[in-house]
Amino acid sequence: MGHLSMVHDAQGNRASFASDEAGIAYDHVIEGFLKYRADAPLRLKALLKLDGEAPLPHLLKAAFAMLAYKAAHVPAARAALDQARSLGGGNLREQMHLAALDAWSAGAQDRAISVWENLLAEYPRDILAFRLHHFAAFWMGKTPQMMASVENAFPHWDSDTPGYGSMLACRAFAHEECGSLLIAENAGREAIRRDPADLWAAHAVAHVLEMQGRRAEGIAWIGGLSTHFEGGNNLMHHIAWHQAMFHIERGENAEVLRLYDTGFRDLNSPITLMQPDLYIDCQNAASMLFRLQRQGVEIGDRWEELAEKAEVRIGDCLSAFTLPHWMMALCATGRLDAADRMLDAMRDYARANSGENARIVRDAALPCCEALLLRARGDARAAVKVLRPALGGLYELGGSHAQQDVLEQLFLDCAMEAGEVADARMLLERVTGRWPTPPERRVGYAKAAAELR
Ligand SMILES: [Fe+2]
Repeated sequence: MGHLSMVHDAQGNRASFASDEAGIAYDHVIEGFLKYRADAPLRLKALLKLDGEAPLPHLLKAAFAMLAYKAAHVPAARAALDQARSLGGGNLREQMHLAALDAWSAGAQDRAISVWENLLAEYPRDILAFRLHHFAAFWMGKTPQMMASVENAFPHWDSDTPGYGSMLACRAFAHEECGSLLIAENAGREAIRRDPADLWAAHAVAHVLEMQGRRAEGIAWIGGLSTHFEGGNNLMHHIAWHQAMFHIERGENAEVLRLYDTGFRDLNSPITLMQPDLYIDCQNAASMLFRLQRQGVEIGDRWEELAEKAEVRIGDCLSAFTLPHWMMALCATGRLDAADRMLDAMRDYARANSGENARIVRDAALPCCEALLLRARGDARAAVKVLRPALGGLYELGGSHAQQDVLEQLFLDCAMEAGEVADARMLLERVTGRWPTPPERRVGYAKAAAELR
């Protein structure tokens, strides 16, 4: 039986492939995944054609389906996992991948994270497990686990092992989210020296510059690398969003809108057309419109297409952090009945499911969405009341400091509108603790800080 042959992946892990050729095709998919290449799904198709009897291609298919954080994709993920199971599940490492993905597709990301951690303890150079763990932990706010995972694996890596640059990029991002910005920046810049097309490393350094208020550098950093980004996937949109974040801080709102229409929410771009309602793209768009409106910028009818997509996705709670963004779109377009339906669907989801995601939807996403709707109905005081006790746990929604910031701004607005001065001050103190750049130097907080501090 060919699948017991001694094929190894590029990092030296034994893999159940029938041929070296399939092993090389697998490495090609992994490289595309690590480097955010738009053709990664096509690379996977080629691998499946080459060796459809091996478990790993089906496991990858399941992982790619789950990475869309879309309920409609879960059946495809489960079917791919069933296929991997029917093929015998592979060696121990591959069976652990199967167990992790099984848990994830059942709404138990925390269990999946534990399985990947066990897997990495045994196989520290399994970059698929590492990268999926990095990703899933990020979307649950488990940043210490992201950092522990990278630091545990690192001693087992040589700098010439394929994928080392991606490890550096993840080290950069994990440290940035944990606040060790010097380690983060150095690791990110080293990854970019190795490969200027490493989107995740470019992104991690942009985060450091954002946290430290280095806006001119941020604009130059992204601008200087952008010629290398061709062939990238939606992460290019998110990097353009970061570029816009630097510009909004400088009051360059026309440039923000230009980037919105041509960089991160171009509805006619081939990448957007492939997945028009992709969670990260819609987060980028909604959070930027929310920020622009706070600055009094005229944003036209840009909320409408987001609100339409939000209505279609009512009941889909897989991406907890996206939920407040969908709710922003519904409230901004006056679709308050749909907003009520969305809240009911979230409550139903939280009641009907026992996984960790359901708890996070109940404890973190729901208070944000309720606050948004209460405020839209003119009751800012009630919004403060519902969101205040949840503030400390919002990090569990996942998302970076830069992305989470929009929720802090929401609470600040509710408190200011309600005349709850103590709450507004408390929020400013929270933000001061979280960011090295003081609120007075940040466009989303400067006005309130000047009034209250
Ligand atoms: Fe980011």
